[in-house]
Amino acid sequence: MWAIVPAAGKGSRMQQSEPKQYTLLNHKPIIEHSVSALLANRLVEQVLVCVAPDDQYWEDLTVAGMPRIEQTVGGETRAQSVLNGLNKLSKLADNNDWVLVHDAARPCLRASTLDKLVSELAEDTVGGILACRSSDTLKQASPDNSPTIVETLDRDVVWRAQTPQMFRIGLLRTALSDALNNNLNVTDEASAMESAGHSVRLIEGDADNIKVTTQGDLALAEFLLSNL
Ligand code: CTP
Ligand code: MG
Repeated sequence: MWAIVPAAGKGSRMQQSEPKQYTLLNHKPIIEHSVSALLANRLVEQVLVCVAPDDQYWEDLTVAGMPRIEQTVGGETRAQSVLNGLNKLSKLADNNDWVLVHDAARPCLRASTLDKLVSELAEDTVGGILACRSSDTLKQASPDNSPTIVETLDRDVVWRAQTPQMFRIGLLRTALSDALNNNLNVTDEASAMESAGHSVRLIEGDADNIKVTTQGDLALAEFLLSNL
């Protein structure tokens, strides 16, 4: 099993100068928490971190020099960053090996949740993702500036996608590369797999596995990390 951590984003919604994955949470950069959660699983051979071409932070982190960690250059979009990682891993991996793709900005992944994903998908031929049900009622909105409600969605069939997303590496590489060649807007690996016609499993995770996106998420992430 292999892992890819896309970490080439700018974190523009955080509205700060440094990319959000390098912001400290409980004295450690966010990305270090995210990478450590993957390293904690002994089935993971290597964690490949995809950083921006002009990244000035990664190399100085303690985690960058640890065993089982490698780095490569990311791309213009998350999908391109992940595809760069897959292209590099394909030299080492068998097409049927598993790859876990996990956001650098998702530091609160529990070891037990990762174990659940891996064990529930072990016999699958395609793979799946961690996701959560919604406790709020969900509304579909009109695409206007001051939106109104078009309809109420059936909460029982709507899930919030998280990472890690876990797929057979050969299938994911083909699906992502085809999606990018066809200019599809894929914001996660699952959407590329769906477009390719694969059946993607939903594995229920926990709501604590948040993606740090805005300043308001920092205090919550610190609280969650200190209670993992
Ligand atoms: N990512 C990446 N390459 C990109 C864009 C994003 O590797 N070109 C990574 C980010 O570093 C992050 C993950 O994809 O770990 C999820 O993306 P997101 O939360 O959207 O992060 P950013 O794109 O950095 O944030 P924003 O959209 O607010 O700019
Ligand atoms: Mg983004």
